[in-house]
Amino acid sequence: MTTVLGIESSCDETAAALVTDGRVILAQRIASQDEAHRPYGGVVPEIAARAHAERLTPLIEATLADAGMTLADVDAVAATAGPGLIGGVMVGLVTAKALAMAGDKPLIAINHLEGHALSPRLADEALTFPYLLLLVSGGHCQILLVEGVGRYRRLATTIDDALGEAFDKTAKLLGLGYPGGPAVERLAGEGDPRKVPLPRPLVGSAEPHFSFAGLKSAVMRAKHALDSQGANDGQRKSYTDADIAASFQQAAIDCLTDRARRALATAGPVSALVVAGGVAANQAIRAALQALAADHGLRFVAPPLGLCTDNAAMIAWAGVERLGQSDPLDIPARPRWPLDPGAEAVRGAGVKA
Ligand code: KG4
Ligand code: ZN
Repeated sequence: MTTVLGIESSCDETAAALVTDGRVILAQRIASQDEAHRPYGGVVPEIAARAHAERLTPLIEATLADAGMTLADVDAVAATAGPGLIGGVMVGLVTAKALAMAGDKPLIAINHLEGHALSPRLADEALTFPYLLLLVSGGHCQILLVEGVGRYRRLATTIDDALGEAFDKTAKLLGLGYPGGPAVERLAGEGDPRKVPLPRPLVGSAEPHFSFAGLKSAVMRAKHALDSQGANDGQRKSYTDADIAASFQQAAIDCLTDRARRALATAGPVSALVVAGGVAANQAIRAALQALAADHGLRFVAPPLGLCTDNAAMIAWAGVERLGQSDPLDIPARPRWPLDPGAEAVRGAGVKA
């Protein structure tokens, strides 16, 4: 049995995990920083970096103890080396380098997006290459053709906001706090998705990409209209916050399924339609993509919820997929690191944390 220690610290989760080449998660711990960032309504990079620095080493010790292991029992150390908030990435990568050097273990530098992209294979050993992947998180919204480990073709990306970001902004507008995705999903369950007319940017477009900025602005206008109506203006809105949440979520689903359908038409043969990243935790989105896959006679694969949002098991697993490789101890942390360096730049597309 080969065991990889994985370390994740690129955004606001400090995480460590031990994963075997037999797809067993021996132990994993995640320290969320939600409380620290909540007063600011989003992740504050300096607060995140400090929290990673304070928490990571004890967290790794606890994870090893959970599995009844020491560093000597580990075969390789894998850590997120980017993309992400640079302070946090450096904390994780430097810690991994120190452990690799002290324990004389190979260091494997992992692209955080590759962690998400390969995470479905940790839970599902039947998932074979190539597969069509929707990678939807707080910082990214891409469709990738996953041809193999290290072989990713980006078929689409967002020209403005990521979908998770749109969920988080919608949550903020509706006063649901941070992080927003799960809260919007909960409230959407109480609303009517047909009540508030919202745009579906780029749906039906010949270009393959996503856009969510216009949807976000339309949600803002709907919320302001609801809040600014006078009690006696005779123009009372016929919708609620829950209807806004439900209508937003439905618009997001329509955008995702339309873009995924277009990608399926151009990607060539694939073994499955796969979704990963934090937004993949959304049950309504999973159900819609499941139906789309069924329409195409394809398997649908989504990781268990705990593997969707940021975690270290996916980083350890990417390390397992890359066993045999080792990176030099001077490998740098990379705030930006595209999975498909050959993909052409898209207007307005910025990779965010
Ligand atoms: O993958 P992740 O943990 O971090 C990044 O790498 O970005 O994704 C976090 C994003 C946040 O925007 C969060 O609101 C969203 O995933 N998210 C959800 C749900 N759970 C998390 N969005 C919609 N529905 C959910 N249930
Ligand atoms: Zn992520």
